[in-house]
Amino acid sequence: MPKPLNVFISYAHKDGAKLASQLQADLTARGYDTWLDQARLQGGSNWSREIEEALDNADVVLALLSAGSFESEVCRGEQLRSLRHRKCVIPVLVHVRADRPVYLEVRQYRDFSEPELYSLRLEDLIRDIESRSGADLAPGFRKTRYDTVPPLPANFVSRPAELESLRQVVLSDRERRNVALVALRGMGGIGKTVLAQALCRDEAVQAAFPDGVLWVKVGEKPTDADLVGQMREAAKALGSSAEGFDTLEASSKLLRTLLKDKAALLVLDDVWHANHVYDFQPGDARFCRLLFTTRNAEIGAAIGAHGHSLDVLAEEQARRLLATYAGRSEEELPGEAAGILHECKGLPLALAMIGAMLREEPPRRWADVLDSLTRIPQLRLSESRGRNRGERQGSPAGGAEALFRSCGLA
Ligand SMILES: Nc1ncnc2c1ncn2[C@@H]1O[C@H](COP(=O)(O)OP(=O)(O)O)[C@@H](O)[C@H]1O
Ligand SMILES: [Mg+2]
Repeated sequence: MPKPLNVFISYAHKDGAKLASQLQADLTARGYDTWLDQARLQGGSNWSREIEEALDNADVVLALLSAGSFESEVCRGEQLRSLRHRKCVIPVLVHVRADRPVYLEVRQYRDFSEPELYSLRLEDLIRDIESRSGADLAPGFRKTRYDTVPPLPANFVSRPAELESLRQVVLSDRERRNVALVALRGMGGIGKTVLAQALCRDEAVQAAFPDGVLWVKVGEKPTDADLVGQMREAAKALGSSAEGFDTLEASSKLLRTLLKDKAALLVLDDVWHANHVYDFQPGDARFCRLLFTTRNAEIGAAIGAHGHSLDVLAEEQARRLLATYAGRSEEELPGEAAGILHECKGLPLALAMIGAMLREEPPRRWADVLDSLTRIPQLRLSESRGRNRGERQGSPAGGAEALFRSCGLA
């Protein structure tokens, strides 16, 4: 017997759950292997690895289009990811007047809006499934646009658990939530910028925000001209010209206008002042999200952002990071590495810095560095600046110490 076709049913909890369950029951009865996100039936779900795996295993994806799915970045993500992976995506209308996503190039929609016609439509749908007759990805969405996201570091070490939990905050299908603004918080050097970059490069995130994932470098004291420059870049990334982006005020308004009906993710990196978040805030753009990284926990709280804290690396990852920067395999790390790992307390910046410094160095140098590290007053894992600055200059770990100091760690 041939393997049954795998049918993934993509729907929004808000107004697609009933039809989704009905289709699942009927298609299962006809011998199809169906999958739908059960968590969503109960009232919302996040993007998950299960969704990703189920999508990848699917032969056919039914995209239930409703007001709710139009708003949901999880639904958008499911639809776009399947289109990009060249799955057969069949659009199914829950409501006749449901907004139709612009990235779907569709020959026909299967209209399930009238319950009396359900059985007839089901037969049409089964014909579509059998003949794999679905939608294509609209031409404008086939190529990557103007990309503002900086590349990941050459020695990038992935942090799957951290990426997943951040993604969960940004991609969710919940009715009552307040995550339009997310603050990724943590001390300097803990890896906020790199994690945010990895998020921007994540396929599910890119699929959920088809109009663009925009990167904006803010910093401690940007001038108005710096911010205007960044807003122009954001406009270009949205496929628009930067005409009229002159003053900060005008640019801020123009950007907000551009974002109004778009599904875009804005990432503001290294924010020190709440004002800079306000400058870029997409206002009432329903499908946009803004994520910013900051060392200052107070900013997020002050503007009502959802706070998400990043912690130091787990031991295993810290070891991998040190080894990667030192250009060795983990097995090749000298015995002194254990002490260095202990002293660096899982802080990526410190590990990267020391690893790079010890690249191609003999174990004797590792011992020297470890020795100086143990003499630096406790590496302080806090946001405040430490004491004893200016001491022990010229020690073998002087570079690392200067670096710790510059982040307020030593
Ligand atoms: N996942 C990672 N893989 C490789 N290097 C990393 C990673 N995270 C951080 N680093 C290193 O640590 C440095 C500091 O990380 P960064 O993301 O800039 O910290 P933050 O933004 O929290 O201050 C980076 O420049 C990089 O060298
Ligand atoms: Mg940073």
